[in-house]
Amino acid sequence: MKYAKVREICDTFNVKSIKTITEAFTDELEKALQNQSSSLKILPSYLTSPSGQEQGDYIAVDFGGTNVRVMLISLLGNGRYAVVKKISRPLADAAQGYDLTAPSATGGELFAFVAELVENVLNTKRDYSLGLTFSYPMRQDAIDKAALIEWTKELKTGATVGMDIKSMLSQALQGRGLHRINPVAIINDTIAAFMAGAYSHSNVCVGSICGTGHNTCYREASLHTGAGLPMIINIEAGNFSLAPGNLYDQLLDRSSFDPGKQRFEKMVSGKYMGELFRLLVLDMADQSLLPAMRTAEAGILRPFAVGAEILNWLNVDGPVEKVYIDNWLNKHGFPPFQDQDRAILTMAANAILNRAIRLIAASFQALLNRGTDKQSRLAVAVDGSVFEKIAGFSSKIEMLLNRTRTGPAIALIHTVSGSNIGAAVAAAQKATLPKPPPFLKPIL
Ligand code: BGC
Repeated sequence: MKYAKVREICDTFNVKSIKTITEAFTDELEKALQNQSSSLKILPSYLTSPSGQEQGDYIAVDFGGTNVRVMLISLLGNGRYAVVKKISRPLADAAQGYDLTAPSATGGELFAFVAELVENVLNTKRDYSLGLTFSYPMRQDAIDKAALIEWTKELKTGATVGMDIKSMLSQALQGRGLHRINPVAIINDTIAAFMAGAYSHSNVCVGSICGTGHNTCYREASLHTGAGLPMIINIEAGNFSLAPGNLYDQLLDRSSFDPGKQRFEKMVSGKYMGELFRLLVLDMADQSLLPAMRTAEAGILRPFAVGAEILNWLNVDGPVEKVYIDNWLNKHGFPPFQDQDRAILTMAANAILNRAIRLIAASFQALLNRGTDKQSRLAVAVDGSVFEKIAGFSSKIEMLLNRTRTGPAIALIHTVSGSNIGAAVAAAQKATLPKPPPFLKPIL
């Protein structure tokens, strides 16, 4: 009886037909391409697939969510690179008394922080081009001209939305006397994953982030860069709104900082899967399907108190994970669990994870199906903590993509430090683009 009820609850996470989601995703994308109202966007990057022969030293900045990572990267050609120097700092540090993610902080302060980090990795005696990966939706008019559309993933820094990102960064660099650094490329992190993956694997046609946030980009054959080549497009897949949600999705959305937005991201990303699990476990405890919490002050009662790592521990369930799970139960106010109660937790975790895997596979399939160059559409470059750390996440997506496929298999490629490597490759590509014609003096 108890298990039947648990099964019934977990079944509300079932994605019955991947094909239906793929079709809905394709329709939404088509609408966005036709400029009709859609939950997906068509945000041009002005970049195309790299050749793999790009070379040179670049400063690469990854402005993701919680940390800023700055690297000095040497691109060596033939898809090879070396990280010469790197530095990373959190955007908020209570012990150091700063929080650049809060509404009281400004874009100016944010970029001053970035400029200070840049100063730490470079050799001040030479010029550098800089590539910036900025992991938020941006409206772009050129590779180096981008304005933030809105914050996602709970960043709330003031005086940044709608502002020109290159100007803010350039001003901050000038402010520190870093006149020899030229920001030449500003890209979304999905574009960075694409560029990093395609630098060493020529058949990459989709780039994605499966981490704290979620999003995907792809190369669209019908849209071209200034040089007439197929352009990579950021579609802000995290906002896709046609994947059917359940009661827990509604609860999560209602209590989120941006209700009604980023519905897909709220189903599949690291920031939200832990919260879905928390809501599910609380409901099961309320219905006496799990042992009651020991105290009314239990940690699990606090919104967003649960990270996605518990899903992985339950999924792996080895001896080390068992210890982590015991500590987790204790920390969140539960008594020790018997095996059958743990089994219920595992069912809950797997329901959330399997849904995310099926939804992401469906969206990748929609992008892999597109265009006339299907034969070369064989690889998806992916980065992010969920992809990297949740056991089986990537292999299960790969399995779903290849299930009914004949011909060469689709591969998922993990782009380690993709956000930095991709920023360097984008900066290098900018340097190879044809220059605008020189200004001709009128003949008098
Ligand atoms: C942002 C995307 C970003 C993704 C992954 C989302 O919240 O809207 O622009 O690519 O997170 O970092």
